[in-house]
Amino acid sequence: MPLLIQGGRLITATDDYQADIYCQGETISRIEPAIDPKTLPPGTEVVDAAGKYVFPGFIDPHVHIYLPFMGTYAADDYASASKAALAGGTTTLIEMICPGPTDDPFEAFELWRSKAAGLAAVDYTFHMSVVRFEEHVREQFRKIVASGVASFKVFLAYKGALNLSDEHLFAAMKLAKELGVIVTAHCENADAIDALQRALLAAGRTGPEWHGPSRPPTVEADGVHHLCTFAELLGTHVYTVHTSCDAAVREALAARYRGVNVWIESVIPHFLLDETYAERPGFEGAKYVMSPPLRAKANQEVLWNGVKSRAISTIATDHAPFSFRGQKDMGKDAFTKIPNGIPSVQERVDLVHTYGVSMERMSLHTMVDACSTQAARLFGLYPRKGAIRLGSDADLVVYDPAYRGTFGKKGSYSKVDYNAYEGWERLGRPSAVTVRGAIQVKDGEFVGTIGRGQFLAREATH
Ligand code: URP
Ligand code: ZN
Ligand code: ZN
Repeated sequence: MPLLIQGGRLITATDDYQADIYCQGETISRIEPAIDPKTLPPGTEVVDAAGKYVFPGFIDPHVHIYLPFMGTYAADDYASASKAALAGGTTTLIEMICPGPTDDPFEAFELWRSKAAGLAAVDYTFHMSVVRFEEHVREQFRKIVASGVASFKVFLAYKGALNLSDEHLFAAMKLAKELGVIVTAHCENADAIDALQRALLAAGRTGPEWHGPSRPPTVEADGVHHLCTFAELLGTHVYTVHTSCDAAVREALAARYRGVNVWIESVIPHFLLDETYAERPGFEGAKYVMSPPLRAKANQEVLWNGVKSRAISTIATDHAPFSFRGQKDMGKDAFTKIPNGIPSVQERVDLVHTYGVSMERMSLHTMVDACSTQAARLFGLYPRKGAIRLGSDADLVVYDPAYRGTFGKKGSYSKVDYNAYEGWERLGRPSAVTVRGAIQVKDGEFVGTIGRGQFLAREATH
């Protein structure tokens, strides 16, 4: 059905103006100061955006939905995760494909695609994890890139599971350079963490509060330095995911000054939750175990300022949903067995609006840039996504900045049994969200169609 969004204040990464938007089919076909509805085809749906912002659909470039990890599976599926994403204004997800070290990469790609097809209500694409890189899988990675997955993921952490040896890391980054594929990377030194974990457990330090001390900032900074050294040697473009602390940001910026093509992602839990959350008594801290861990509060201003100055390109979530009961409690006797992750896909944009924009830590333009446009540019989706332009996909968020409420489990679409931001004040909410011209959310409620989401094939542009 044709759609008219009337009277809104259009805010992109660069522009701010009053206009009407008309969407015919799946794309934006007119943007004009005032479009007379009488000139439009009968049946055109009209959304009144007076007093509201209109943003390009938000993109979360780092989520986990189907994830076999630490002896369990992430709790969401594409239906719950995409409803949650949409209710929070996110219209495109980039999920990490994380196979085990003995799995066949192309089969993994097909498996992850099958998990999304038919259930996604958002558009989606993937970063392909390279968890081993022997000669015989080289052709499979080429085939995956040719199928439209133009980014790799590597884990320098998780020894014995997802961690890649230096030999394989070098070979994978070499292929990425050859193919023009950007390498996204979890940067923490796996061996250092392993040794620290063993020492802590041997000393009887088993609770969730010891997760942070087992992977201090230097361990992450070392990982960033290592990745950037390989990038410097090979010319590969790299992107540090969930960059959590001053020391790691500094390493990435130092590499950038040396000429390394490195971009920085940080994720919403690290901006707002500090290490004291993981120290909460009664095993409550397990809800706040993620990697890299929550940091000392002083790091948060570094992240906010990093976004404001645009040193940090993107704000993602690293949505990795594990319930407190039945999953996080697998680590009752040892913090090393607590599945890592803090789900935030529904909350990200409203948290950035409430605690970033409203507290003058960033402008609305920066919010759009960090939560949408930069991800589109870096991962080959721009200007189809991340923009309000003629011909762009009609992924639009009509946002009510005057809405007042709270974050919490109530109203959340994720299957996880807790909300890390329970009871926090919320300023603003998407009042309508469209994906390729179809309304998927009205006033915070999912009203769309499960299965409408499409796989986004991307070109390698690095
Ligand atoms: O704690 C996290 N980040 N869990 C998900 C896996 C990963 O490292 O991204
Ligand atoms: Zn990670
Ligand atoms: Zn992740």
